[in-house]
Amino acid sequence: MQPMLNIAIRAARSAGDFIARQSGNIPNLRIEAKTSNDFVSEVDREAEARIIDTLLKAYPDHGILAEEAGKQSGDGEFEWIIDPLDGTTNFLHGFPHFAVSIALRQGGRLQQAVIYDPIKQELFTASKGEGATLNNRRIRVSKPKTIDGALIGTGFPFRAHEHFPAYQAMFAEVFGAAADIRRAGSAALDLAYVAAGRLDGFWEIGLKPWDIAAGALLIREAGGLIGDFSGEGQYLQTGNVVAGNPRLFNDLVERLQPHLTPALKQ
Ligand code: IPD
Ligand code: CA
Ligand code: CA
Repeated sequence: MQPMLNIAIRAARSAGDFIARQSGNIPNLRIEAKTSNDFVSEVDREAEARIIDTLLKAYPDHGILAEEAGKQSGDGEFEWIIDPLDGTTNFLHGFPHFAVSIALRQGGRLQQAVIYDPIKQELFTASKGEGATLNNRRIRVSKPKTIDGALIGTGFPFRAHEHFPAYQAMFAEVFGAAADIRRAGSAALDLAYVAAGRLDGFWEIGLKPWDIAAGALLIREAGGLIGDFSGEGQYLQTGNVVAGNPRLFNDLVERLQPHLTPALKQ
C-alpha cells in the first residue's frame, strides 16, 4: 500500500475513534456557532489537531487545507485536504452518521483519499490509478441504469438560503423521476456511498473542498463520474457537485441544468 495512504489511514482512525468516544459526552461539549446553522465543537478542533499532527510528523514539508485551522502552506507540491468531522450537526444530535475525510493533492491532482465512519467502522480508501476499497474490499459504483428506480443522495442548502428556490426546483425534478432521495447529513459519506454503489447519484449546492476532495477520488477510482453543474471539473472551486455512475451522472447534469440560476452557472 502507498505509504502516504497508510499515514492518512492512521490519522483518520485516530481522529475517528476519538470522535466516537466523545459521542457519549455531547451535553458537556463546548459548541460555537460559526455562522447561522453552522456549528463547531471542541471535538472537531481536537480531531483536526490530531490529524494534522500525525500527517506533519510524517511529512513536515507538506501543506494543509483544513476546515477549522485553514491553510498552512508547505512545499508547494503536496497538500492535505481535511474535514475532521463531516456531519457535525448529526454528531451534535447523537445521530450516528458522520465521518473523517482526508485527501492528498499533489501538484493539483488528487492522489490519495480516506473517509472513515467510526460508528460503523467503515474505512473507504482510494489511491489514484489503483481503485477504491471499503474495509480492504474493492468497491464499484452501481451498474448503469436509468433514473427510474435510482436512489439519489443530496444535501440541503441550509447555510445559503438564497439558493433554496432553485434547490426546490431541482428536488422536484429529481424526486419526480427517481425511486427516492436521501439527505443523510454527511456529504463525504454520501460521496463514499456513491463510490460503493449504495447511492446511484448525488448532488449538492455550495460544498467546500474538504467535503468533496476524498469522495471525488473514491468515485473516480470506483468507475463513477463527478463534476460541477455543467458536468465539468470545477467542482472543488464552485462547491456545486453532481456525481454518480456514468449514466446517472449525465442524466442528473441534464435534469439540473434548466433550474440553474445565474449564480449557480458560474
Ligand atoms: C456538512 C455536511 C452536510 C452538507 C454540508 C456540509 P460539516 O459538513 O457534509 O451533509 O450538507 O454542506 O457543510 O459542516 O458537518 O463538516
Ligand atoms: Ca464538511
Ligand atoms: Ca466538518
